[in-house]
Amino acid sequence: MNVFLGMDIGTTGIKALAVNEAGKVEWSATKPLTMMTPHPAWAEQDPEMWWEGVVAILREIPHDFKVERIGLSGQMHTLVPLDGSGHVIRNAILWCDQRTQAECEYATRELGGEEAVIGYTGNPIYPGFTMPKILWIRNNEPENYKKIKTCLIAKDFIAWRLTGEFGAEPSDAAGSAMFDVANARWNEKLLEILDIDKNFLPPVRGSYQVRGKLRRELVFSDSLACTEVVSGGADNAVAALGLGIYKPGDCMISIGTSGTVLAVTGNKTPDKTGKLHFFNHAIPDTSYYMGVMLAAAASQNWFKDKMGPNLSWAQVEDGIEKTAPGADGLLWLPYLQGERTPHRNPNARGVLFGLSSMTDEMRVFRAVMEGITFGLRDSYELLKGMTEIKRVIVVGGGAKSPVWRKILAANMKAAINAPSIDEGGAYGAAMLAALGGGMSLEEVTSWAKAETATEPNEYDYERYDAIYEQFRELYKDLINRFDAVAKL
Ligand code: XUL
Repeated sequence: MNVFLGMDIGTTGIKALAVNEAGKVEWSATKPLTMMTPHPAWAEQDPEMWWEGVVAILREIPHDFKVERIGLSGQMHTLVPLDGSGHVIRNAILWCDQRTQAECEYATRELGGEEAVIGYTGNPIYPGFTMPKILWIRNNEPENYKKIKTCLIAKDFIAWRLTGEFGAEPSDAAGSAMFDVANARWNEKLLEILDIDKNFLPPVRGSYQVRGKLRRELVFSDSLACTEVVSGGADNAVAALGLGIYKPGDCMISIGTSGTVLAVTGNKTPDKTGKLHFFNHAIPDTSYYMGVMLAAAASQNWFKDKMGPNLSWAQVEDGIEKTAPGADGLLWLPYLQGERTPHRNPNARGVLFGLSSMTDEMRVFRAVMEGITFGLRDSYELLKGMTEIKRVIVVGGGAKSPVWRKILAANMKAAINAPSIDEGGAYGAAMLAALGGGMSLEEVTSWAKAETATEPNEYDYERYDAIYEQFRELYKDLINRFDAVAKL
């Protein structure tokens, strides 16, 4: 059987799917990954761990498959520095690592301020992005910096190991803080100002362009004898493609550990306030705006661990259903890890406000679900201000909850669709592999069709407008307090 192999290099694991030519998942495999935090707010991984996982997956491919092509998706922003012989110089510095605040401030100053930076790349420089990590190595590990010959993002490292060819592609390059999103090319002027060698960065090719043939020593069975590898793309973009989200007006809300709200656009203009990311999609000439919430289901899981470790999720669902919108005056500010969109505030923290003698665990669970939804709504409202939204699909663990879909529909005032296939980046990566062989975008995205819609209920949405307003005001009331407490 001919299959496309999609592999997602995530933070907590590698997921692989073999998908047949009609889009059916025929086989899957996962390899868990661990993360190191050598200092608070640092996050690193050894790229050799990703590679071992990928090789193990290739060895496990069923022998009755013929893998036509491999497509990749991966954690964005994560830097892998290589020396002239292709050795990994130090651990990869991950997307969620926060060590580069000083480098972000320095680069923003050198480039002429934040507005100028957005003009160069389409985005402000966030501590998680790739370029400030290169500057951090220059400032803090000069011996390592001297050895750097090539800088790759996670899945580009895997594509290179699979084929022997260096390369990058727009959807991941977009999150590097070195790429001109509107013109889809490295920004050489920016590199010159910051004195970063442009030869560190590999050539940019299309996300489903064939990078090369699978290296001979990786052909572990006849299944892999004629396998090619395409470039792949950033996890958010590729997961969106996997749901058929690629036309202006399409929107994806993803509720995983973190949360993202992404809307495809025909616009070429970044968000001048710098609140929303503006990135290239994994298909040519298409971009998207995106808001990122650092702790989404993470805060739900945190509360359940603390308040209801013995309850099943079905019991929690049932309990929430029996409580009223607003949980009788309880509000949850979901900032367990600080927040990216819309606040860009590392000092923000979780707040449960409005406890009373009638508060019980189910009201708390409802308030937490609502607080996460309000955080996602913050991004959604910003997106609506930048581009038209016509269709919303929700994915991730949170999407499986009917009561959560109802709360989302009431808040976004839109039908919320849940897809029939919710496999994340690996499925979209298999689509990229199919596109790389000449299948059309229409054909490939028709794999992702059946959806169930939850329609908004008007009574709820008026109610939620009022509660959402209080949620926003509560954050404003506490901004100074968050900063003051962070300094203690
Ligand atoms: C996006 C971001 C995360 C990572 C997770 O800007 O930082 O969604 O891509 O892998």
